[in-house]
Amino acid sequence: MFSKTYLHNFSISLIHLDRERKMSLGFLVPLLLSLAALVFVHGQLQTGYISIDCGSPENFNYIDYDTGISYASDGAYIDTGINKNISSKYAYPNNPNLALPLSDLRSFPYGNKNCYTLAPTGGRKGSLYLIRASFLYGNYDGEDKLPEFDLYLDVNLWSVVKFRNASNVVTTEIISAAVSDTVSVCLVNKGLGTPFISALELRPLNSSVYSTEFGSTASLVLFKRLDIGYVNGTGRYSSDDIYDRIWSPYNSASWDMVSTSSAINSNENGYKAPLQVICTAAMPHNASDPLELSWTSDEDTSKFYVYMYFAEVQQLEKNQTRKFNISWNGSLMFGPLAPRYLYAATISNSEAFIGKEHRISIYRTRDATLPPILNAIEIYMAKQLEELPTFSEDADAVLDIKRTYQVNKSWVGDPCGPKNYSWEGLKCNYSVSLPPRIISVNLTSRGLSGMISASFGNLSSMESLDLSKNHLTGPVPEFLKELKFLKFLNLEGNRLSGYVPTELVVRARAGLLNLRVDEQNRCGSGSCKNKKKIVVPVVASVLSALVLSVALIMLYRLRRKRKSEADSSNGEGRPLPSKKRKFTYAEVLNITKNFQDVIGKGGFGTVYRGDMKDGTQVAVKILSPSSTQGSKEFKTEAELLMRVHHGNLVSFIGYCDDGSNMALIYEYMANGNLKDYLSYRSSNSLSWEMRLRIAIDAAQGLEYLHHGCKPPIIHRDVKTANILLSENMDAKIADFGLSRDFPSDDQSHVDFPSDGQSHVETTVMGTRGYLDPEYYSSRRLNEKSDVYSFGVVLLELITGQHAIIRKDESMHIIQWVSPLIERGDIGSIVDQRLHGEFDVNSVWKALDVAMASTTPSSVHRAAMSSVLTELKQCLDMELSHNRERTQGFSEEIYVGSYNSTEMSSISTVTEPITIPFAR
Ligand SMILES: *[C@@H]1O[C@H](CO)[C@@H](O)[C@H](O)[C@H]1NC(C)=O
Ligand SMILES: *[C@@H]1O[C@H](CO)[C@@H](O)[C@H](O)[C@H]1NC(C)=O
Ligand SMILES: *[C@@H]1O[C@H](CO)[C@@H](O)[C@H](O)[C@H]1NC(C)=O
Repeated sequence: MFSKTYLHNFSISLIHLDRERKMSLGFLVPLLLSLAALVFVHGQLQTGYISIDCGSPENFNYIDYDTGISYASDGAYIDTGINKNISSKYAYPNNPNLALPLSDLRSFPYGNKNCYTLAPTGGRKGSLYLIRASFLYGNYDGEDKLPEFDLYLDVNLWSVVKFRNASNVVTTEIISAAVSDTVSVCLVNKGLGTPFISALELRPLNSSVYSTEFGSTASLVLFKRLDIGYVNGTGRYSSDDIYDRIWSPYNSASWDMVSTSSAINSNENGYKAPLQVICTAAMPHNASDPLELSWTSDEDTSKFYVYMYFAEVQQLEKNQTRKFNISWNGSLMFGPLAPRYLYAATISNSEAFIGKEHRISIYRTRDATLPPILNAIEIYMAKQLEELPTFSEDADAVLDIKRTYQVNKSWVGDPCGPKNYSWEGLKCNYSVSLPPRIISVNLTSRGLSGMISASFGNLSSMESLDLSKNHLTGPVPEFLKELKFLKFLNLEGNRLSGYVPTELVVRARAGLLNLRVDEQNRCGSGSCKNKKKIVVPVVASVLSALVLSVALIMLYRLRRKRKSEADSSNGEGRPLPSKKRKFTYAEVLNITKNFQDVIGKGGFGTVYRGDMKDGTQVAVKILSPSSTQGSKEFKTEAELLMRVHHGNLVSFIGYCDDGSNMALIYEYMANGNLKDYLSYRSSNSLSWEMRLRIAIDAAQGLEYLHHGCKPPIIHRDVKTANILLSENMDAKIADFGLSRDFPSDDQSHVDFPSDGQSHVETTVMGTRGYLDPEYYSSRRLNEKSDVYSFGVVLLELITGQHAIIRKDESMHIIQWVSPLIERGDIGSIVDQRLHGEFDVNSVWKALDVAMASTTPSSVHRAAMSSVLTELKQCLDMELSHNRERTQGFSEEIYVGSYNSTEMSSISTVTEPITIPFAR
């Protein structure tokens, strides 16, 4: 018989490395050579694995005889910490079952944060990994005192590590998508004892498995992984489980075990449970009893994901049926399910189970004769990644500084994160939804030598820089003057040459900068007499520039406050960049035939239809002299339009700017804007499929602005009126007047005067109903604001309602739709003009996307790229639904699991599934 024990013994008989030999290095070389062939065999499974035996002697690499996994010592992954052995009381041979990697550990008595940096081969940002950390205290320090510390994956808390006793092995696993090419595992000292770690393992996962509704913005921490119906297993089947999971054998007294010796087909099941796990199952003694599992969590906000494995292991007779439903806390989660003979399937919830008490019940349907079964189950707790890594330009700059000066071994992991555990000598500014910024660098007395690295100049939010008492040479760099927020600069005690940039001297004299430099670098003192003549006029001109810009800023504010006044078109100085597509005013008159045909009016002025010489139809937007938005926005739009090119952005043909007249010329969009189209056109002219295509087009345009442009661009005024439709109903995003590059030097406060009564003005920067509430309150701009607005557009497409619904009272579309979603009342949600002609699952999914895009907190909103992916899936669902309809199938064939369930193998569905529309 094909059993687990057999496979396990098979491993043992091949590998003869035992614990005593691990201790004696002399055996190692020949041993490793003799095991080379075996490594090759295992190599197929271990592709991309990282297995670190923390604390083992340097360059000590070996194969663990229990698992066949090859472990490496940790030198290549970390520079800090010290190696220790656990005390002999807890080690082999006193503890004969101790896993080999746990006999030693690395301990971190110095520094608050110590990190392993893992760089998986072929790993990329977004790759999915299972990471496992193991800890065994074993009184390694002779103090007999159990420490407690925090474990972080990059900048987010993974687990609090606590021990029951010195022989307690704590193992924690997390599944997470990488936020960069490398992954940092950090141990943080909370003052409750010295952190340490015994083993660290990383396994690449196929990105199609273990997905959650949060996408890559949440990780899954393992809660339980049970091999149901088997009690003698070792739990780890490294030669068969490509993901090297550890399965705890589990059975209940009220269950019977069943198993098969035949192979089980897992080809279509991405979860790839090892054969030894999936070939055994349990069922209740009494066929009419449910098979139940329950658990409790500490917090009532805990979010759980459950992955249940099913495969029929008994050959059923003709008169036998096994069919069952699965419920969570009494409400149906999935069913009915009839597992297919010798085929593996995995069922999971696509929406988290939230709460303290959880009970999964698997119970047979009325027409079934056999009890339900369960082969295996994994339960994970979702952790949303609320902390963001350091702003990438800042992180790159300090990494470069670290490399240049070989500063500090403890500069590992993220420079600012986890929050309040920034690198020694750095200070960071943390905000709610934006990445942390580095605001202070203190490298005093660190023995730095060489020139001042240009990377300091890239820390654009820096307020304080202390490089005093080092051996720095070379000139005082000019780029320091670019640091707009610098309030403190200390270069004393170095051997720098040249003078401090005049701009800094000016700022210091104005009391804006606390500047400390050595005598020889100080301008204006005796030593730079010869330069004085040049310096004075420069100072003067800088001062006058300052005065001028202050005057300009005041003028600008004044203008904003009195919007009715005429706009001073040459007030904001930036010239338009390109001359190539410049038209004269006479040409504009010609193109528009003296402004005959008005096709729209906006904040800027009027839009006219026109014809180019070659017959191309165009739309011409003329800035009206009384424009409330003014030439700045007009120029912003022209500049952006020149830079961006995408099939889903309205294409730009040219502009006119002769000082007194300004015009923008774009392609003509024959079907006008989506707002009008949705409000006025005849009833069913926009099918669900067309609505989805419009949403996808618009999403593609935004996705390009956010992810395809450098620097990325936030549109800031996404709404149905700004989505234009071509003759063929292709949708394109228009109106870039409010758009901005981001992130910029000063993400906040730019457009908002900071006096208290400015709320009326702030609404100018977007449109009511579409405006991200978080942006509104925090005034912090990020691309998720566009995602919010897009979510509102999507709701309008689904419901046919306006963003602000005016009935007796005004109501926002989200307020209107939320209770209907809760009731599952799809009939009242969907635009009546669709006459019920749509795939229900596709609409529900689109609703989910819309609601996920409009969550109040921007960190919980998906990126435009994942919104786009989801919408494409909605379209696929609708298309295959249409195909079925046109091929004459009954619509009832497969309703599927539209809400809280997901099947990774639909081959087990033997019958129509009908689930009430409750959510
Ligand atoms: C741990 O024990 C092994 C075997 O006795 C020894 O070679 C190694 O040096 C010890 N490590 C430490 C840090 O004491
Ligand atoms: C240590 O804790 C583990 C886990 O709770 C337990 O199984 C074990 O019996 C304990 N050992 C001792 C010596 O108390
Ligand atoms: C930099 O750190 C040193 C001590 O490490 C301290 O004396 C000095 O004041 C710090 N500089 C700033 C600007 O905080």
